[in-house]
Amino acid sequence: MEIKICRANSLKGEVEVPGDKSISHRAVMLGALAEGITEIKGFLSGEDCLSTVKCFRQLGVKIEELGKNHLKVYGVGLNGFTEPEDVLDAGNSGTTMRLLLGILSGQKFYSVITGDASLRKRPMDRVIKPLKMMGAQIRARNKDSLAPVSILGHDAAVLKPIEYETPVASAQVKSALLLAGLFCEGTTVISEKVKTRDHTERMLKAFGADIEIKDEGRRILLKGPSHLRGREVKVPGDISSASFFIVAGCLVPGSEIIISNVGVNSTRTGILDILSSMGADIKLFNKRILCGEPVADIAVKHSSLKAVEIGGEIIPRVIDEIPVLAVAACRAYGTTVIRDAAELRYKETDRIGIIAAELRKMGARIKEMDDGFIIEGPVSLKGASLNSHGDHRIAMALAVAGLTAEGETIIKDAQCAAISFPNFYETLWELMEISGGK
Ligand code: S3P
Repeated sequence: MEIKICRANSLKGEVEVPGDKSISHRAVMLGALAEGITEIKGFLSGEDCLSTVKCFRQLGVKIEELGKNHLKVYGVGLNGFTEPEDVLDAGNSGTTMRLLLGILSGQKFYSVITGDASLRKRPMDRVIKPLKMMGAQIRARNKDSLAPVSILGHDAAVLKPIEYETPVASAQVKSALLLAGLFCEGTTVISEKVKTRDHTERMLKAFGADIEIKDEGRRILLKGPSHLRGREVKVPGDISSASFFIVAGCLVPGSEIIISNVGVNSTRTGILDILSSMGADIKLFNKRILCGEPVADIAVKHSSLKAVEIGGEIIPRVIDEIPVLAVAACRAYGTTVIRDAAELRYKETDRIGIIAAELRKMGARIKEMDDGFIIEGPVSLKGASLNSHGDHRIAMALAVAGLTAEGETIIKDAQCAAISFPNFYETLWELMEISGGK
């Protein structure tokens, strides 16, 4: 599907964004691993999370859809899964594949997991290596680094706990090892040099796991075997999805937007801190805690932005928002430098290469570095014919760029936004219609 975007007059109104993707995946997984029922409200019915649901159904877990974003998961306990009759398919979802590898490593049966062409190029050795250290029997393509991955299963509980410091800042690696740790006799200890999103730790605690957090969240101790109890999970809106409207609100003159019910866990709010330091007018109100996760409503008004330099510890807190941050940088006064973000090259696409190439087609002045960009601004972007390369966050970031550009912007392969944000374009039209634009 191609989408056409024109310059917006202003964006006005109050919108909600769909449920948090990371939390939705984890709610299904922990719900399946738990004993008893887990009801999930505000579940993200995007393609990635639906891949997780499908995999667990193939593993014998009953999951009912009570409403559009409302699931009931009948937990089977740590050892109640059944051998899947066919290959599990994680689709485009790295979270599904990596976290499932942790769970499948603890099972007695044989299983194989694969994904789409993008996922089959992404590194799986970062989870396979430490899982093998725990005793998992795993084989994969390209010297055990690429999907499809097969997990051989074992007769008895052979997984052993490890103490492991993750060499890359990755919540998926940390989470996969913690999930494998549920099956071990003894304490699994995972440390991170830089703290990454902590939804797994928070949710494991809420489900009754024996988990201890130390060193300001950078060291996690999980005592196994740890049995979980099903519970209700209310999923807040995804700040990564909200970010497209937050940046659009900053950039389009006359805009005033409220995005309600957004998760503002501090491991995810790098985008708010960076935009604020660029001079954005962003206010959080109605702060509350929902099922152990901080939530707020976010108000954004148009303002002029100035360039900043970012790198180091903030990167994991903003990693998924860097494509849209690059769009903001094109409109900011001065030279924006984004460093230490080489991980972007291993996402759904090489996001450094792709965003630089696509924004250049609009006249952006971006220099690509191995681990980030240098962006000169402000530039008056021009409408162009662009390609998302099937990457949901690139599609939505380019749509935001199109709102500020002179003339018409065409985005090819724009439907991939549904991977994380099924109604993205409709929500955008809603904000434009109130102001009379489009
Ligand atoms: C995620 C962790 C991050 C993030 C991804 C979701 C998660 O990936 O980019 O969109 O839910 O744990 P990495 O673990 O590869 O950094």
